Parts: sequence; structure tokens; C-alpha cells
Amino acid sequence: MKRGLLLFAAVLAAALLGMQLIPVQRTNPPIEDAVEWSSPHAREIFYRSCADCHSNETQWPWYSRIAPVSWAVARHVRKGRHDLNISVPDEVDVSEAVDSIRDGSMPPRYYLLTHPRARLSEDDKAALISGLKETF
Ligand code: HEC
Repeated sequence: MKRGLLLFAAVLAAALLGMQLIPVQRTNPPIEDAVEWSSPHAREIFYRSCADCHSNETQWPWYSRIAPVSWAVARHVRKGRHDLNISVPDEVDVSEAVDSIRDGSMPPRYYLLTHPRARLSEDDKAALISGLKETF
């Protein structure tokens, strides 16, 4: 019984260590065109609630360095940038962004657990929506 437990712990430790060797893409590619925000307040809200996944200015947290969490974080950033990336302003779809703020689907709930400041009040939503409309 005790032996089985030790063996299990050893295998688990080896697997966790092995996972750390798999490379993870935590890149912040160069910004193609810097955005001139119509309002510094809207910019501030976007950077607080969206920019980690929707810009090339991701702030990679410490746990993004530890597999298997790192894989999930990198995947969210990759998918997020694919759908909306303000570092490539020509491709920004404002009405889609507005919808995601209105219906509350963004920022994702899991992100709010680790980034409670990213939660949007009704005032934040209104300011961010008009800022996005005026800027892009
Ligand atoms: C933790 C990462 C993360 C944050 C923070 C985040 N998003 Fe997203 N976003 C995603 C991912 C991942 C997708 C891809 C679709 C999916 O998997 O749900 C996405 C998709 C989108 C889309 C595409 C359409 C849709 O709804 O699927 C829009 C628009 C969007 N996000 C806007 C925003 C806005 C605006 C904010 C800030 C208020 C924000 N997101 C915050 C990760 C994030």
C-alpha cells in the first residue's frame, strides 16, 4: 500500500517535471500600428480587462510559466488574438467587440477569478464601448 503510493507520487512528479520541458509560446509580437485611443479612460479599461488576450502587450503572469497551466494560458491568448487584436488595428471588428461587452461574454469568467479588477461595471462598459467605437 505504502509502496504503491510512493510509486504513484514518483510517477506524478516525473510527469509534472517532464511537462515543464515542453516549450510554450509566450510571445509578444511587435505592434504593427500603435493605437491612438480617443479617450485615455477607455484605453485604461481595455488594458485592465481585455489587453492580456487581445493585444500583443500580454502581461504573462507567473503561473503562465508552469505547465500544464501555461498551456491553457497560451491557448487563450492565441485564440483571443486570433479573434481580436488591437495591435493589428485594421482588423478590429468593433461591432463584435461591442456585442461581447454588452452580452457579458467578455472578459471570460475564468479570467475574473485571477484578475478581479478586470470586472466591468455598467459605467466601464459604456465608456469602453464608446471608446472602441470612436477609436477603431
Ligand atoms: C483571458 C483572456 C481573454 C480576455 C481577458 C478577454 N478575452 Fe475576448 N476572447 C478570448 C478568447 C480565448 C476568445 C476566443 C473565443 C473563445 O474561445 O471563447 C475571445 C473572443 C473574443 C471576441 C470574438 C467574438 C466572441 O465573443 O467570441 C471578442 C469580440 C472579444 N473576445 C472581446 C473581448 C473584450 C472586449 C474583452 C475585454 C472586455 C475581452 N475579450 C477579454 C479571451 C479573452
